[in-house]
Amino acid sequence: MGTGVWGRLLLPVAAALTLHVKLPGSWGARIIGGREVVPHSRPYMASLRFGGQHHCGGFLLRAHWVVSAAHCLTHRDPRTGLVVLGSHALSAAEPTQQVFGIAAVVRHPDYHPTTHANDICLLRLNSSAVLGPAVGLLALPRRGTRPPKAGTRCRVAGWGFVSDFEELPPGLMEAEVRVLGLEICNSSWKGQLSPAMLCTHSGDRQRRGFCSADSGGPLVCRNRAHGLVSFSGLWCGDPKTPDVYTQVSAFVAWIWDVVQRGSPQPSPVPGTSRPPAGDA
Ligand SMILES: *[C@@H]1O[C@H](CO)[C@@H](O)[C@H](O)[C@H]1NC(C)=O
Ligand SMILES: *[C@@H]1O[C@H](CO)[C@@H](O)[C@H](O)[C@H]1NC(C)=O
Repeated sequence: MGTGVWGRLLLPVAAALTLHVKLPGSWGARIIGGREVVPHSRPYMASLRFGGQHHCGGFLLRAHWVVSAAHCLTHRDPRTGLVVLGSHALSAAEPTQQVFGIAAVVRHPDYHPTTHANDICLLRLNSSAVLGPAVGLLALPRRGTRPPKAGTRCRVAGWGFVSDFEELPPGLMEAEVRVLGLEICNSSWKGQLSPAMLCTHSGDRQRRGFCSADSGGPLVCRNRAHGLVSFSGLWCGDPKTPDVYTQVSAFVAWIWDVVQRGSPQPSPVPGTSRPPAGDA
């Protein structure tokens, strides 16, 4: 891999740092303080790739819908992206892998790149995933549920680098973290957070959390996707800048609305034209 890889993979953190006066310098782009999971034990994990490189995470919600972070698609042509499911070690040719093109991207209409508010998007795959032991769905929070309370134990997984030298992790990594109250988190972030965000910290003296190429991946609390990796600070895992996620429970209605509208009448693939649907 060439040195140009950094520019692409660190884009999510670079974008996050527009909130922040510091320059990106933490190249420890990885799940911090985590461990490798049992292969295929998180079958909902998706790897979003551009130019053959892992760029972001996401999760499989329905056989042809993946949820990720909106910032993962910034300055990207979705037609050049691939979504890989059923993977553990990304570099290996794994027979469990299923690879898809992206037929459509639905970004949240109120996504704000500078504040990272509403950092969520839905990717419609160009065909349906075949569900099985290595590829499965992750549930959303139930409609109307509140985000998990401060102190709740959750897990975040991703394929971010494991060293300062572009070293890929041996496989999917995961860290256990605890939900941090939004008010405390907001004061750590000097009042820059918006309401539909969720924060975590390690809850002890260890550094644990996510880093750049983990963007878009789910924070799983009680077997449901309660967060999407959105941004963190200069030093990944630094308790002074707690990890910030998109608060998925705030978007459940929007997500189901998109999925229900998108499924029976797929939106046109970019570059093609079609007459509008019947009663539109
Ligand atoms: C979906 O996209 C992938 C990757 O570009 C491609 O290999 C595959 O043939 C496409 N499948 C369909 C059904 O269009
Ligand atoms: C964070 O603090 C700022 C400044 O006090 C406030 O304007 C903002 O609404 C707060 N955000 C949240 C999510 O409470």
